[in-house]
Amino acid sequence: MADTSNGKTTFSSFRADKTAKICVLGHRGLVGSAIVRKLREIGFTNLLLRTHSELDLTRQNDVESFFAFEKPRFVILAAAKVGGIHANNTYPADFIAINLQIQTNVIDSSYRHGVQKLLFLGSSCIYPKFAPQPIPEHALLTGPLEPTNEWYAVAKIAGIKMCQAYRIQYGWDAISAMPTNLYGPNDNFHPENSHVLPALMRRFHEAKVNGAKEVVVWGTGSPLREFLHVDDLADAVVFLMESYSGLVHVNVGSGKEVTIKELAELVKEVVGFEGQLIWDSSKPDGTPRKLMDSSKLAELGWTPKVSLKDGLVDTYKWYVENVKQ
Ligand SMILES: NC(=O)c1ccc[n+]([C@@H]2O[C@H](COP(=O)([O-])OP(=O)(O)OC[C@H]3O[C@@H](n4cnc5c(N)ncnc54)[C@H](OP(=O)(O)O)[C@@H]3O)[C@@H](O)[C@H]2O)c1
Repeated sequence: MADTSNGKTTFSSFRADKTAKICVLGHRGLVGSAIVRKLREIGFTNLLLRTHSELDLTRQNDVESFFAFEKPRFVILAAAKVGGIHANNTYPADFIAINLQIQTNVIDSSYRHGVQKLLFLGSSCIYPKFAPQPIPEHALLTGPLEPTNEWYAVAKIAGIKMCQAYRIQYGWDAISAMPTNLYGPNDNFHPENSHVLPALMRRFHEAKVNGAKEVVVWGTGSPLREFLHVDDLADAVVFLMESYSGLVHVNVGSGKEVTIKELAELVKEVVGFEGQLIWDSSKPDGTPRKLMDSSKLAELGWTPKVSLKDGLVDTYKWYVENVKQ
């Protein structure tokens, strides 16, 4: 809806003006690329995109000049240094410094150059290691973090707090969304440092192609995990840009738990690997359960649409067509 009461046309609704300049940072990553697909699908025509090599977001002067010149109306911050336990343990300085630099530069420059609304993306690792399950938003900062990724988590918590502080001090519309484990097109299928779902997909695919008789997976398969297709996350991001302007960050999950065993069986079926799946129970299992409480988002009116099976079919299709075998 357009409001011209102050002589200046402003739009109360994110979706109202499809020509609005929307800056999506990290647009070649798993999350950013899904957000770009979604925005294009619903008709946005003026997307402002920069690759890492075109604009290094850790460089304050460059970020400042970019925002001063481009003056986007909306910003979605999906650029970050991300990685698994091994990468976090090996490069703790990079994980804390690069993420703090990216988000501080982007949030502050966005505010100072007139961005109407910004959405910051974090992750479920912000919550304490022993948070209640499912994890509600108010569990933030109630206990010690998981030590293996605390560098990353501390940076992400600072991002949430920065959005809150700018809202309180300046009345600026900055919000934060905390997604659960995501998967989908453009995921990282690297043989050593990918998340559980793409790692399983790659292993079953390679076993199928090589005619292997079995695939051995670490652990018992009993831990419970939650997965959300990245297209659902992108839909939730648009929903939050449109409908939410609160102080508290918002969890974004599917609300559905599966055991790693159920997940592995489903990936095996989708890939079409006909050999045996063997569990090596001498290897560690990891946290027994990790589920986000996404009831706040449900109460706001958003629900996920992509089933795990359909999401896996879509992801495998992308993998076969795009990942160098
Ligand atoms: N994947 C998940 O399961 C998951 C779950 C919850 C939350 N999230 C959150 O979603 C956000 C995006 O994650 P993702 O999985 O999409 O990660 P991703 O696939 O690695 O994408 C991150 C993007 O950020 C860009 N980037 C990194 N450093 C940059 C810099 N200094 N300047 C400019 N661009 C830079 C990367 O470009 P280059 O590759 O060229 O460096 C890449 O395009 C993160 O905040 C993450 O915490 C992800």
